[in-house]
Amino acid sequence: MRMDRYSKSRTGTQKSREVARKALDLATFKQARILVVGDVMLDRYWFGDVSRISPEAPVPIVKVDRTDERPGGAANVARNAAALGAQVALLSVVGDDEAGQSLRTLLVRENVHANLLCDPSIRTTVKLRVIGRQQQLLRVDFETQPSHEALLGKLADYREMLSSCDLVVLSDYGKGGLTHITQMIQLARRQGKRVLVDPKGEDYARYRGATVITPNRNELRQVIGSWSEEQDLTNRVQALRKSLKLDALLLTRSEDGMTLYESGNVTHEPAKAREVFDVSGAGDTVIATLAVTLASGIALRDAMRIANAAAGIVVGKLGTAVVMPEELLPAGQ
Ligand SMILES: Nc1ncnc2c1ncn2[C@@H]1O[C@H](COP(=O)(O)OP(=O)(O)OP(=O)(O)O)[C@@H](O)[C@H]1O
Ligand SMILES: [Mg+2]
Repeated sequence: MRMDRYSKSRTGTQKSREVARKALDLATFKQARILVVGDVMLDRYWFGDVSRISPEAPVPIVKVDRTDERPGGAANVARNAAALGAQVALLSVVGDDEAGQSLRTLLVRENVHANLLCDPSIRTTVKLRVIGRQQQLLRVDFETQPSHEALLGKLADYREMLSSCDLVVLSDYGKGGLTHITQMIQLARRQGKRVLVDPKGEDYARYRGATVITPNRNELRQVIGSWSEEQDLTNRVQALRKSLKLDALLLTRSEDGMTLYESGNVTHEPAKAREVFDVSGAGDTVIATLAVTLASGIALRDAMRIANAAAGIVVGKLGTAVVMPEELLPAGQ
């Protein structure tokens, strides 16, 4: 992608990269207190051999010999922020089941202080992948919306947890856990705390007053429609940003990097990945890195460059992975 297509944009010059590096004081990441709220899920993998077709139906039989589990959704955002060294609290709802228990155990291991409210009327969201001969054969999803009571309990706990954090991340995976999101944004903003939102769905009025929202291209298209060229995109995004009273909108563009839209400013960063193995969860790494760097006092444009670098690293790893702070330092430092 040619940079001059981004009219009015401040491109990632060498100088600005140096500024970002200087600003990257890893010790301060440890001081950052982040509250992540949203839909958590358990990413589960069953691996095995396929040597025959079932006599019951024309499907392969997978003999499972290995399983793996990872925190997903908002839990992956929390895990990414904790891996960077920040103090991370997570608020969400799970069912009274074995998957919910697994998530608790995994999050303790990842240094996330998880407040997972138990809603006995639901099943914990699980995405199960069955993989035979290195190939995904099937994905099985279990999910139910949290009950009204659980969501009210979540709002009450949110009020309490808010006071001991510097910045809030609302990770919306469209599973119904963020029914009270507009209120959550207002409560945080009234206390002078910044709010980052990873959005889903068509109704962005829910995110009014947030500091930054981080849609990907498809998510944004659902809201502003298809754009013809870069200037048309800029016009549409700036109109949306103004109408929702957002400080900024960060559009993540997969292999085309990301673009930050602020009042009177558009900044583009090309993608940084050297090798791409697995792009799933890159968006989680972006918002987690943005949260930790902003809460550490780094300016938004520098924070965006660091988040882009982190995403470039995470797509080079298999599975929904994390980035360690040392990996963000330029080689030799
Ligand atoms: N194919 C790729 N090549 C290089 N960088 C990539 C690629 N895909 C993603 N990235 C990096 O990751 C960032 C986020 O990716 P993307 O825009 O796909 O987010 P996303 O769709 O929300 O991801 P997900 O939902 O899978 O977590 C990009 O801005 C870019 O920095
Ligand atoms: Mg995403």
